Amino acid sequence: MSTTPSRGMWSSRAGFILAAAGSAVGLGNIWGFPTQVGQGGGAAFVVVYLACILLICAPIMAGEIALGRRTRLSPVGSFAALAPGTRWWLAGGLGVLAGVGILSFYSVIAGWAVAYVWFTATGAVTGSPEDIGRFFAEFTGNGVLSAGLALFVIVTTAAVLLGGVRAGIERVTKALMPLLVLLMIGLAVRAVTLPGAGAGLAYYLSPDLTRLADITVFTSALGQAFFSLSLGMGCILTYGSYFPRQDGIASSALWIVALDTSIALLAGFIIFPVGFSIAGFDPTTSGPGLIFTVLPRLFAELPGGQLFGGGFFLLLSVAALTSTISLLEVPVSHCVDALRWSRTKAVCAVAALIFVLSIPSALGNGAVALFTAVPGFGIGFLDLMVNAWNEFALPIGGCLTAIFIGRIWGVGGALDELRAEGAWFPAPALWTFLIRWICPAAIALILLVTLASML
Ligand code: PHE
Repeated sequence: MSTTPSRGMWSSRAGFILAAAGSAVGLGNIWGFPTQVGQGGGAAFVVVYLACILLICAPIMAGEIALGRRTRLSPVGSFAALAPGTRWWLAGGLGVLAGVGILSFYSVIAGWAVAYVWFTATGAVTGSPEDIGRFFAEFTGNGVLSAGLALFVIVTTAAVLLGGVRAGIERVTKALMPLLVLLMIGLAVRAVTLPGAGAGLAYYLSPDLTRLADITVFTSALGQAFFSLSLGMGCILTYGSYFPRQDGIASSALWIVALDTSIALLAGFIIFPVGFSIAGFDPTTSGPGLIFTVLPRLFAELPGGQLFGGGFFLLLSVAALTSTISLLEVPVSHCVDALRWSRTKAVCAVAALIFVLSIPSALGNGAVALFTAVPGFGIGFLDLMVNAWNEFALPIGGCLTAIFIGRIWGVGGALDELRAEGAWFPAPALWTFLIRWICPAAIALILLVTLASML
């Protein structure tokens, strides 16, 4: 439980917020959120998503940071240190697996984003909505190309972890993230003024409450909330282990949650108005291709669209890179800590494993449904991965983390950490209630009803 002198430390609270926000903001916000809103029935999903963020994820975010900072260890070690002699370390182990599993499909989508920098900047993807859709289907139908792009993303991520240029990347992100937000605001302004945009806004903003009878709305909103905030897998915990003791946890957690959620909501203000401006658009059927088929349409409408399109996908790729770095860090630091591997060996071995695991996602991206022959698996392999990791592994990890903090470590210890050095911590009684009761119960209920509905 001691702090080894070699262990790095963020230079300031701002450094931590920046790195954690870099992890949180990524494809989850700009690709995942609109895709899930589209599949989950519009504004009703948004309402459930926001409730999950506020009542479940924000309290767990503070708890994960506190857990990491108290132990100054990576996930498996953290759980083991506070509950020695028990099997609680397995909760950290699940996070290590989730890092590998999520990166295996995340790298495929990130590879598409990288390719779209080129496609949009060179004007390769233009024409009617049908042409743009056909372009995407043909592009992703080439599984070898998708796998090659995923390999590029994985190798770049591994190179960043090995090359010690991470601090540099984080400094660059500091400049690029505001640029991404500004560009998105500009795109949203254009999007909402397109003819037909009103229907998109209505879909996005006025909830059809009958949708709430559908448990899948809750499952996907919960999974998406964990995924977008990088929670439930020890990633934020690991970043918290470098967090200086004199800085406040609650305010940092709230900043990250607010930033991440605002960017996701902003993405919706672009995608749905543009989508509904296209005749015959159906958000429920677009699947993982939603942003790749809708956004080029917007760029085609803009003067200088190639520049804006290329710029947008470039910034999205950078945002994805800061997330892949944090995803790879969890299994790598585990191999270094627990197996005593060198960092180079750990990075190379884990990256190679992830590449192998990414191949089915690259081949079965929803256009090619590998599992259609198996009853109950009438979806592409990529969707299957999103469902398995985001909707099950992360919420289970989050549920275990909440139980651990609330009942094993104990809220007393956690509150000491959260309020260390007189840090601002609002409503400790409310936080205690949420972490001990609401988080575990709500997650368990959603997962159990989902499982029951699958039987
Ligand atoms: N939060 C990241 C995103 O929204 C993905 C991620 C999940 C990163 C889990 C780390 C851990 O893109």
